[in-house]
Amino acid sequence: KFEGLALTPPMGWNSWNTFESNINEQLVLDTAEAMKANGLLDAGYEYIVIDDCWSMRERDADGNLVADPEKFPSGIKALADKLHAMGFKFGIYGDAGKTTCAGYPGSQGHEYQDARTFASWGVDYLKYDWCATGTRDAQEAYTTMRDALYAAGRPVVFSICEWGQNKPWLWAQDVGHLWRMSGDIYDCWDCEQEWSRGVKVILDRFHNLDPARAGYDGLGQFAGPGGWNDLDMLEVGNPGLTLAEARSHFTLWSILCSPLMAGNDMRSVTPEIVEILTNKDIIALNQDPDGVSGWRYRIEPGKYETFVKPLVGGDWAVVVLNTSDETQEVEVEWHRMDRAFSGRYEIRDLWAGKDLGDTDTNLKAKIGSHDVVALRLSKK
Ligand code: GLA
Repeated sequence: KFEGLALTPPMGWNSWNTFESNINEQLVLDTAEAMKANGLLDAGYEYIVIDDCWSMRERDADGNLVADPEKFPSGIKALADKLHAMGFKFGIYGDAGKTTCAGYPGSQGHEYQDARTFASWGVDYLKYDWCATGTRDAQEAYTTMRDALYAAGRPVVFSICEWGQNKPWLWAQDVGHLWRMSGDIYDCWDCEQEWSRGVKVILDRFHNLDPARAGYDGLGQFAGPGGWNDLDMLEVGNPGLTLAEARSHFTLWSILCSPLMAGNDMRSVTPEIVEILTNKDIIALNQDPDGVSGWRYRIEPGKYETFVKPLVGGDWAVVVLNTSDETQEVEVEWHRMDRAFSGRYEIRDLWAGKDLGDTDTNLKAKIGSHDVVALRLSKK
């Protein structure tokens, strides 16, 4: 794969969560304008990715992928050029099987040809899905596309999307820059159906899918600069989550080093959602240069969960999530955090934007249902 990319988790926007098949050139350009106007580009959201349903149902006579001229009348290259001129990077979607999940042509048997097409269009990011793959071996299939992208010569962030079925955290570090670890996210807190997963469901899977290393729970142990667990695109700003749930979702994806790919309608984004998506202190936890993923440290069943993440320079992030349906009075007893850190730290509350003294005194906080407190601890 291309080295030197995604040294911190990729940030951007993807069309799928809100628009599914209803994508077009104008929507993408309006999204980009809105992201610029609302400060998202400045905050780090640089990749604009079109998901499934951008192409024609068939390849052309030479076997090339062709964009749907009704949705993308100027063509993909023109769109990529415009986004580049605005300061964004551009991403597209493909599939390792015969067809994409929505039935458009997949890249199986056309990997090198498609990689050259993407390079000629100026593609900087490829999300590569796993529908209609039959008996293909995932590691082999993703490695083939990795090599094809590399041969095409244009640096591409390679996003592996086989939904965690083949434990990509064990092999994908050399193949791609991010790998999904679950089925598709939905804008709900803890719903779970065959394919849809709520925020809390993905959070639990992240911690339960693979045996824990002592003192370091969850899939974070397999990630680091250049290769990240992808907890799926953000539902922040989508109707099924309360503001508290959106804030928690964003905070947890940040400390678990998931890519931050927004998935809302940017053309009508509200100030409250912009405030969540552009919180610099929370983003700094996600984009921390050391790239050590956080983990769940402690569960108070039915009440709250505590998460920690080591940060550059010996700082720590501590996040307390109220998992109950009522407001909770929470006390963080600092001496009980000693499986992660000990000593004396200054505390900053990152959502309130306030200093809260130091860890000589236990922290008392009132947290609303499904809301979080996010703290940054700095050595005194
Ligand atoms: C799969 C992926 C989704 C999305 C759709 C598109 O379900 O997991 O993220 O790309 O396909 O069809």
